[in-house]
Amino acid sequence: MNFVAALNDVAAKNLQVLEEQIRQAIADDEFIFEACEPLFKGGKRLRPMLFLLCANSKDDCPAERTMPLAVALELIHTASLVHDDIIDTSKKRRGVETANSKYGAQIAVLVGDYLFAKAFQLVAENNYGAQVQLILSKLVKDLCIGEIMQDRSLFEVPTMTEYYTRINLKTAIFLASCCRLGGIVADMDSREVENLTAYGSSVGLAFQIIDDLLDFFGDEKITGKPNGGDLKSGVITLPVIRALEQSDEAPKLRAIVTTGGSVDAAIKIIQATDAVDYCRTRAQAHIEAARVNLPLTLKTSAVLALEQVADFIVDRTR
Ligand code: FPP
Ligand code: MG
Repeated sequence: MNFVAALNDVAAKNLQVLEEQIRQAIADDEFIFEACEPLFKGGKRLRPMLFLLCANSKDDCPAERTMPLAVALELIHTASLVHDDIIDTSKKRRGVETANSKYGAQIAVLVGDYLFAKAFQLVAENNYGAQVQLILSKLVKDLCIGEIMQDRSLFEVPTMTEYYTRINLKTAIFLASCCRLGGIVADMDSREVENLTAYGSSVGLAFQIIDDLLDFFGDEKITGKPNGGDLKSGVITLPVIRALEQSDEAPKLRAIVTTGGSVDAAIKIIQATDAVDYCRTRAQAHIEAARVNLPLTLKTSAVLALEQVADFIVDRTR
């Protein structure tokens, strides 16, 4: 079961409608449906659910107003993963074969483009207006810049500041935008919108730090992708940055991560330091910051659900 279904009845019902509408969104074309349906079977739906939870966090917001944008957010996210898998030549995503592995990069680029275009079709058809479109375009531009930044510095050890800049662009701005859009479509006041945005940003930082830990230490059967993918593709993340600061074997670890060497040897060195605890503590601190930012004007049940989402982020195994 998806984690959001366990939150409350409203979230579970929203999730069910969301799943149906995602299926509809990819059903216009037979090939796109065949290529995308397995990919959409997996996934946590974190982005659309954050948006829906925020949109319904004061008063109930009609599904006609929220669902098309919720679907668009998941389509944009999945489009970015399809393109990310081409860039990383990944073979598995969400427990299934990636589009690039199955159909080749040429077709996979177009599958990603299609999902992306479909997202903007939904936004245009449902008259969300220029403010929403600007938030979406900015978040996609930031995603691209984050990815370009990462790909231009593969096999180079980033500073802490560079690491945080990258995860902000790659993940935190997306999650912050989902929460911001929730506040905007529900016509909340600007202070509430800013607070929800800050909540989403902190949740996003925590999410990516845990993602980077899971990439080394996750259970492959649960994460749906092989461990050590970041190291092999030259993406150097927080567990390594911290271990390089702490370990006596830092020169050896540096040699491994700057050449894409043995994942097992890197894991051994990382585990002999406080890097895992350090990453968890950092993630937990962002979760606390997220909690503090939740507007005081929200319904108690919504605060509870948003706190549960934040806790799920650090406890998650996939
Ligand atoms: C997965 O993260 C990838 C991203 C967060 C962003 C990828 C963005 C692009 C390819 C550019 C945007 C493109 C479009 C069409 C919107 P990860 O690589 O850290 O995690 P992973 O291990 O799941 O791949
Ligand atoms: Mg990737």
